[in-house]
Amino acid sequence: MPHLAIAGGEPLVKQRLGSPWPVSDDREQRAVMEVVASAKWGRSAYATPADSRVGQFEAAFAQFQDARYALGVSNGTVAIEVALRASGVEAGDEVVMPAAAFVSVATAVVNCGAVPVFVDVDPQTYLIDPAAAEAAIGARTRARAILAVDNGGLPCDTDALNDIATRRGMAVVSDCAHSHGSQWKGVGTGALGRAGAFSFQQGKLLSCGEGGMVVTNDDGVAGLMDAYHHVGGVPGRPGRGAPVVSLACRMTEFQGAVGLAQLSRLKGQTEARERNLTYLNEGLREIDGVAPIHRDPRVTRWGFYLVHFRFISEQFGGISRDTFRKALAAEGAPTGVGHTQPLYRHPIFAGQPALKRACPQAERIAETESWSLGHALFLGPTSDMDLILEAVRKLRRNVDELREVEG
Ligand SMILES: Cc1ncc(COP(=O)(O)O)c(C=O)c1O
Repeated sequence: MPHLAIAGGEPLVKQRLGSPWPVSDDREQRAVMEVVASAKWGRSAYATPADSRVGQFEAAFAQFQDARYALGVSNGTVAIEVALRASGVEAGDEVVMPAAAFVSVATAVVNCGAVPVFVDVDPQTYLIDPAAAEAAIGARTRARAILAVDNGGLPCDTDALNDIATRRGMAVVSDCAHSHGSQWKGVGTGALGRAGAFSFQQGKLLSCGEGGMVVTNDDGVAGLMDAYHHVGGVPGRPGRGAPVVSLACRMTEFQGAVGLAQLSRLKGQTEARERNLTYLNEGLREIDGVAPIHRDPRVTRWGFYLVHFRFISEQFGGISRDTFRKALAAEGAPTGVGHTQPLYRHPIFAGQPALKRACPQAERIAETESWSLGHALFLGPTSDMDLILEAVRKLRRNVDELREVEG
């Protein structure tokens, strides 16, 4: 009689885990209906744009992330492009970024006319390895920015990256599409370097369906961000930057209204997720073959879009990570692999040998080690964490059966 669901046994988890996403109630409904009724659907309908829903969302989000300026845009990919351009990245420049990231991070670089330089990740955190970043800059003259991707919401080591960037005359631009609510040494992500970019796409930690925000503490960069997101600067209009060839990626009032309502929940949701993750990690530490990702003590709050975990085959009866994931899914606990695939293997970039670089850690992690869980799972009760732990323990107990399945 098989024990494991993958071998025909009874699945352990019989209910849906976590919370549906996004979470909303009459706050969002009222906010949207008010915008409809106002007939002011874009911020340009307001005599003082800062009085618009987008303007209010920007002010509240800037405060939440400890930034001086925030600017709403239409999605997270253009947010990266605007942040890079406003930070001085021009056509022909190079942007140093981790090999393991979501593909649109690299396409945003290409859309600036710049070239992504993929570097390896730190095996403890899966984030850009500052030593690898510095080595890649080496003799290069056109490396203009380091794109620090807070993969899984963990803030990058901006102390080390800012130090490199200062010495090399470069900018650190953060991709915070996963890290709303995260803090590095008590300060919100986004403006820890020169500028940062957030995404509010459907599944993100703060969602308005589609949307994004760029943040900075730098007056000049703020003016340029504004110019790059809207008609390239309007001479004589206060707050408008220098004339530049720009995108048009303005945020609508509907997005601003929903974003404001969602922001009112973000701190509580971040704390609830962190509590559940701490509990889960304590349990995982006691099971051979699985391990939490390293959290730098300077990460004082962790708002995570997804969490990466490590699978250590030698300590899990020699079975592969893929068999482990399939067996866990069969038990009713589906997992992902996170954003760990090296981008130089992505079909968009694979045909360009010049972009291929040796990133052995990223390759090993993507092929054999990473597994991940999404953020909405952590908004459920603690008993959901117990079920996940029990499912992992069940696999560990029946590893011989798992080896037979793997055959
Ligand atoms: C790390 C990362 N950066 C940027 C983006 C792009 O955001 P958007 O989908 O809003 O364009 C995503 C989207 O999933 C992402 O995961």
